[in-house]
Amino acid sequence: MKRTYLSIFCIAFMGTLFLSAQEKIPQVEELLKKMTLEEKIGQLNLLTPGGGIATGSVVSEDVETKIKAGNVGGVFGVSSPEKVRQAQDIAVKSSRLGIPLLIGSDIIHGYKTTYPIPLGLSSSWDMELIQEGAKIAAKEATADGINWNFSPMVDIARDPRWGRIAEGAGEDPYLGSQVAKAMVNGYQGEDLTQPNTMMATVKHMALYGAAEAGRDYNSVDMSRLKMFNEYLPPYKAAVDAGVGSVMTSFNDIDGIPASGNKWLLTDLLRERWGFEGFVVSDYTSVNEMIAHGMGDLQAVSALAINAGLDMDMVGEGFLTTLKKSVDEGKVSEETITNAARRILEAKHKLGLLDDPYRYSDESRPEKDILTEENRDFARKAATRSFVLLKKHDNTLPLAKNANIALVGPLANSKNNMLGTWAPTGDPQLSIPILEGMKNVASEANITYAKGANISDDTSFAKKVNVFGERIQISDESPETLLKKALDLAKSSDVIVAVVGEATEMSGEAASRTDITIPDAQKKLIRELTNTGKPVVLVLMSGRPLDISEEMQLPVSILQIWHPGVEAGNAVADVIFGDYNPSGKLTNSWPRSVGQIPIHYRMKTTGRPGPESGEFQKFKTNYLDSPNSPLLPFGYGLSYTDFEYSDVKANSKELSSTGTVTLSATITNTGDYDGEEIVQLYIHDKVRSITPPGKELKAFKKIMLKKGESKTVTFEVSPEDLKFYNSDLKYVAEPGEFEFFIAGSSDSEFDGSFTLKD
Ligand code: NOJ
Repeated sequence: MKRTYLSIFCIAFMGTLFLSAQEKIPQVEELLKKMTLEEKIGQLNLLTPGGGIATGSVVSEDVETKIKAGNVGGVFGVSSPEKVRQAQDIAVKSSRLGIPLLIGSDIIHGYKTTYPIPLGLSSSWDMELIQEGAKIAAKEATADGINWNFSPMVDIARDPRWGRIAEGAGEDPYLGSQVAKAMVNGYQGEDLTQPNTMMATVKHMALYGAAEAGRDYNSVDMSRLKMFNEYLPPYKAAVDAGVGSVMTSFNDIDGIPASGNKWLLTDLLRERWGFEGFVVSDYTSVNEMIAHGMGDLQAVSALAINAGLDMDMVGEGFLTTLKKSVDEGKVSEETITNAARRILEAKHKLGLLDDPYRYSDESRPEKDILTEENRDFARKAATRSFVLLKKHDNTLPLAKNANIALVGPLANSKNNMLGTWAPTGDPQLSIPILEGMKNVASEANITYAKGANISDDTSFAKKVNVFGERIQISDESPETLLKKALDLAKSSDVIVAVVGEATEMSGEAASRTDITIPDAQKKLIRELTNTGKPVVLVLMSGRPLDISEEMQLPVSILQIWHPGVEAGNAVADVIFGDYNPSGKLTNSWPRSVGQIPIHYRMKTTGRPGPESGEFQKFKTNYLDSPNSPLLPFGYGLSYTDFEYSDVKANSKELSSTGTVTLSATITNTGDYDGEEIVQLYIHDKVRSITPPGKELKAFKKIMLKKGESKTVTFEVSPEDLKFYNSDLKYVAEPGEFEFFIAGSSDSEFDGSFTLKD
């Protein structure tokens, strides 16, 4: 955090890059000179012949004819070196100028080697791991011909009703920014022309995670202050990390849909942030501006290109109307040329203009995809993403020779291991929990019964099962399922129940108004605990759930998200104690949907809620619930225990050019070696706009052997205390700052320092 000479040098060096990137690229300029207006418009058209997940109501037709006519700048949903070679052949050999295509894809949490959902990965708080994951995903995807990825998704989300909360890194702008940077660096590497790196796309610009009422695609209305201080930082972090492209969101912002929002795409993104890559729409989001009420296809396409959108995904509004708009003087030819230039520059950055077949090496898939090494990584990543939510009676870890009843509809379900947005993964390659437990503990006696359906509601199941049977409703009655599980439970020493959400109960267009575990499974859980046997709930979900009831039960709870292709092995590694869980929540988990939106960075208000949590009239609180979440941001347990002591600042004062060192000693006081995520929060006590009650400013993940102590230090400079003021200037204001260092956001302030003028 201290600005060193090295970072000053880096900034100077980046500055040089920035300047040189602004210079025109001769190869691109030569091409542009040769291009007709129609050919330039063609570069702005992104199509999909199908093959991925069609996330709108249309897929493109006559893609080959359009490529030959020079009407296509890129495609997605095409993979394998052979198919990509074919597509490039058509573009290079049959279109007039032979310009190669961008080959896009949604690689959200691993390519074929699927990792945990992004919300799970973020719970590792391990930026090296996240970067490495993106790097491996790039290696696999490029081996299969892909050069452009629609990830990272960095939308801040504080509403667990919203299904796409699964795709992001949770609620916090600081942590979200770290994850955004790590992912961009992982995908793009040092050099985009290398055949094992791909261009990243930060999405969805902007504010998509704040959709009203948690309903997907819904409107967003937010103050600039909230945008700048809370929702925009991760997109900016990705831009600062050099992300090649930006995808717009479906929602409107200040009454103008993102895809046609000039303030967003030009004033903010290009002029204020200096973004030099290209902007792509989301799937038919240009056309969707018609339904938003912004005019007909010609009008919305003109609105989009004039706002700063460069590429139109699937909708073909650019292709079919922009020429007319130029003829009628509604769009300038220069605007089209600038957009085409940005697409060509991206192709140049990827090395495609020199070698269109750079990503079409037939020997690579065999060597690079789903290797043992990559699967090992997925297993490790999954173990790091798990969060131990509750410990009871030292049930965990289990002995490797235990007599275990494994029950639950998610205990032996390949179809639900990968999680949402894993179109490139194959569920059939995943390891279910039952198999993983047998792999890791061959001495254990493990018997299995389903116990319940994920849900008994057939109409609900039908909506969830759009991409395959995720909720399988058994031919046996719920009573029979339950009885079989209870019979097993009675003859075992411990029950492991794998319960929660099916894969497509979260993700795109998968919002819920009830975020509890479905009733069919709740009943199973109650009955299992009634047996008096020790119970471990292994909880799978793509969002924070309301588990108020389960937290009261005498059970241990391990949150595993949707863990990816190595699910079963990873779960077994943790429940049998080969890895001690270390994940921490990146969202606050509510006590009920009534608390949503909920996050730890709330403002105190002028009538702060009582510290005791007891209701007080005329304070900011509820009649029927405490304000605090059920589980706070940053929370997560370990098989061992950690104690924090000696939390202090090395000085009471921080000068405007100096640093202050904040430190704490952490001791492993329990019976296992373990990792702890040490978190620093501050509170700006007085400033020109109302401050949040606390803000995460830094964190470190440390390993402590049983009995070991370590001192963790954080160096804080005025730069770390900055925020956007009412004039949207990024400033640190002098005054007192409180801080604490702890293992979760739910802690008391330990000390303070003062920033001097
Ligand atoms: C729609 C989704 O919102 C976006 O995240 C995705 O990249 C595109 N579809 C392309 O599949």
